[in-house]
This record gives sequence, structure tokens and C-alpha cells, in this order.
Amino acid sequence: MAINSTGLQPGQGAGEENNHAHSTPTSDVIEALASTTLRCVECLTLYPAIEAGQTSHPTPRYRCDCGGVLDVETPFHLPNQLELRAQDELFFDSETDTIPSAGAPWRQLFDERASGPPIWAISTDEHLIDSSGVWRYRELILPASEKYIITRPEGNTALYPVGRENCGPGRIGHRQIGLYAGLDRFFLKHEGENPTGSFKDRGMTVGVTMANLMGAKAVACASTGNTSASLASYAAQAGMRGIVFLPAGNVAGGKLAQTLAYGATTVQIEGDFDDAMRLVEQVCNELGIYLLNSLNPFRVEGQKAIGFEMLQQLDWQAPDWLVLPAGNLGNTSAIGKAFRQAYQLGLIGHMPRVASIQAEGANPFYRSFMGNFAQRSSVQAETIASAIKIGNPVSYTRARRVIEESDGIVASVSDEQILAAKAIIDRSGIGCEPASAATLAGVRKLVERGIIKSDERVVGVLTGTLLKDSKTGMQQGDSGIVVKPTIDAVRSVLE
Ligand code: F0G
Repeated sequence: MAINSTGLQPGQGAGEENNHAHSTPTSDVIEALASTTLRCVECLTLYPAIEAGQTSHPTPRYRCDCGGVLDVETPFHLPNQLELRAQDELFFDSETDTIPSAGAPWRQLFDERASGPPIWAISTDEHLIDSSGVWRYRELILPASEKYIITRPEGNTALYPVGRENCGPGRIGHRQIGLYAGLDRFFLKHEGENPTGSFKDRGMTVGVTMANLMGAKAVACASTGNTSASLASYAAQAGMRGIVFLPAGNVAGGKLAQTLAYGATTVQIEGDFDDAMRLVEQVCNELGIYLLNSLNPFRVEGQKAIGFEMLQQLDWQAPDWLVLPAGNLGNTSAIGKAFRQAYQLGLIGHMPRVASIQAEGANPFYRSFMGNFAQRSSVQAETIASAIKIGNPVSYTRARRVIEESDGIVASVSDEQILAAKAIIDRSGIGCEPASAATLAGVRKLVERGIIKSDERVVGVLTGTLLKDSKTGMQQGDSGIVVKPTIDAVRSVLE
């Protein structure tokens, strides 16, 4: 497929007229998104979600005219048919929290959808979107009509109780994590259990659905590996062309293999992620390809579902802290936004504090935080955790807002601390990729410093699976013990 049949109107600077082979958004799409707007996080200018281009094809907007990134704003409406069953029943106090009654209809809606037929019992597409851990919360994510939604489905990831007190007797291994962290009530939300093995699927289902709504035929991203794998999978499902830009030599083997296998055009850049990010924005604007990095504000909307799903798993009792690894800062922005909206709707009784953890060699956000956000920092990134090897994060302003309004914190951990934490998570039987282990390394550090108290309720996010980056942290030549196939040989190595 030629790159110039991408379905979208190129932005300024484009050379030729495109050979469009796809329809423009239909009136139902335009109507559904009529009240959705994009607000610049720097100068607060408002734009419509879909802007008509010079031809009848839409021009996607990823930035304000001032250069600032954009944030989706949309009014939330409960479905008309929703009737509250027993309002009084839904209001209750507990030891840890008060759940506001204002959020009762929303909690009822989401709880009913979550109790629908399990994924394996679905015989038609009918219940697919309720069983997605993203589209279950669709009123808070994107007002798209069901027929446009591209879903695997995703989400429904486990929330493991791993604290010293909340870990049951059947979880002796998992409890090692709580002991290492120094926390009594600690949970790990394992986003590596998504269809392509990382949290990126939650943003990608919404990003590719938006591409579908816009009539795009080609989608692209820059990536340290997980976004590219996710984009490749969802683009393949939707019948779109996937194009990914990777920092050559800096992507874990499993992520590269996965991206290639799903059939994306894979371009390795002689440079780092920050170079690839700059380039992809230019490529998308000039060639009319739909950009699916978290610069695209609709990706962020999908990733909010990590926050909603985790709150629902906790019976809407907000934790004291949410801790996650931070690179390009899309996820910090998304989860913080989810908490803000959940609090505003009365789904939860208080805002959790957000702690973003960066690797020491890739910690521009930490540096800005330490300087009271007086200035935006950037670094030449270097860390063993290749997923978060990012020196100039795109979502800086969005994430800064989250840290400020949640009374949050940014911490920085060394590669040694990341690898030590990864070993604990791996040996517990749960396992994760190196970047995800920054969460546990950060929790341990913040508990040691007394910033997180050992009796506070804490949720940590594990962002990716162990399997894609299985070599990092392994001893060289470590591939188990090789023996002759005899009982004596086995006995000699086990004794
Ligand atoms: N953890 C993992 C496993 C990641 O892949 C990423 C980002 C992050 C954490 C950081 O999240 O960027 O939202 O702050 N990976 C991107 C990618 C950059 O291309 O896959 P963030």
C-alpha cells in the first residue's frame, strides 16, 4: 500500500494532494463527538475533536497552535435507561473511606457491566464492549458508537494483594513483595496481562477506534517497543497499515519480534526514542498518517481505564497511593486524570496520591520536580530499563498537573535498584519487565524515607510482561542446568 493513501488530510507543509480511498467521517460520528473538545494544557485554547481539512477529509490535531499538547474534555452523561435500584443501599461508610452517594448510579452501571457474561461465554459481538476493561467505562472514555469500536477486548488485569497483611496463606511467594516493600496493604495491578503484554492496549483500543472514526487507513508511532507492538496488533485487526519508528538497537527482542509478526512496517532510527518521537510527528503531519503516540490525547483517555478498573476492583475504596513507572509521562497523566474524574463524579471519596518513578539515567521529570517545576528538564537518557529510556517526555505538563493536584511525588531509582526489585517480583511468581520493576524499587525507597507510611494502602502498577524482555538482568550463559537423562544425574544436581 502506498503511503499516500492514508485517508487523512496532511497538516501544513504537505506537498501533494492525497489519493484518498476512504470515506470521510459520517454525520453520526461528527454528531457523537460534537460536544467533545480538545483543550491546550498550556494556553487553554479550545478546539473541536474533529476539524474539517482543506478538502472534506479531517485534519487530526495533536497540538495547539502554540505548540502545547491537548487534553480531551467531554461532558459525562449516564445512559438514559439507567434506574437506580436501591439508592440507600449503595451509600455506605467503611473503616478506610466514605464513598459518596453522588457516584452511586455510575458505580451501579459499571458493576452491572462487570458482572455480565465472562469473555469465554460471549457468542456474538453483543457483549464484547462490556467485557472490555476499557469500554466498560465508555461514557468516561469516548462517546463512539459501538460499530466503530476496535477491541480485543483488553484490560481485566489482575490486582494482586501482595502486602504483609493483605496477602493470604495461598500466596506465600507473593508476600515476599510486601516484605521487600515494607507495606502491610499493598496491591500490584499487572498491566502486562493485557492482550499484547502491556498497558498500551488500553490507550491503543481508543486510539485505533479514533483512527477508524476519522477514516484513517494508516497509523504510526515512535516507540521503545510496547506501543509499537500494541499499535501493530490493533492496526492489523482494523485492517489499517501500521508504521512504527524504533530507536535502533534499543528495543527488547520480544517487542521487536512481536511488532514484525503483527505485520507493521518497522523503521529503525539511528538515534534514540526522543529522535524517533520528533520524526514521527513530522511524518504524520506531512503524510497524513494518524499519530498514535500518547501525544494523541485520545490514547490518554483509554489509559484512564487502568485507574477506573483498579478502583472498581477495590470496591471503589480509593487507595492512599498509586505508584507507577514514568517515561513519556502518558500513563501518569492518564491515571491522574482518571482519579480526578472519579473523584469529581463521586465514584470515590478521595484522590489517591500519585508517585511517578523514573530511572536515574532517564529522570528529567524528577529533576523538574526537585526544582519545584520551575523549569522543564531534558536529559540524554541512559538506563537498562529500555521502555522508559526517554529524555524529553511529551506529556510533561499533563503529568505535572497530576503530581501537583494529587499532592504526589516523583522519585528516581538506580538500575541496580530496578534489577533488585525485578528479581523479587520475578521470584514471587508474578514477574514483569524491567521498567515495571521501577514501581517496587520506588515504593521501597519512599517507604524507607517515611514518605509512604507502612500502614497506608498502596497500589503499584506493573506495566509490562516478563516475556518480551526476558534477558535483561539474567546472568550471562544462564539457561538452567543441563544433565544426562538419568535419575542419578538429576539426583546429583538436586542434592
Ligand atoms: N512501562 C513500560 C513497560 C513502558 O513500555 C512504558 C512506555 C512505560 C512504563 C512508561 O510509560 O511513557 O506513559 O510514562 N513505553 C512507551 C513505548 C514509551 O513506546 O512503549 P509512559
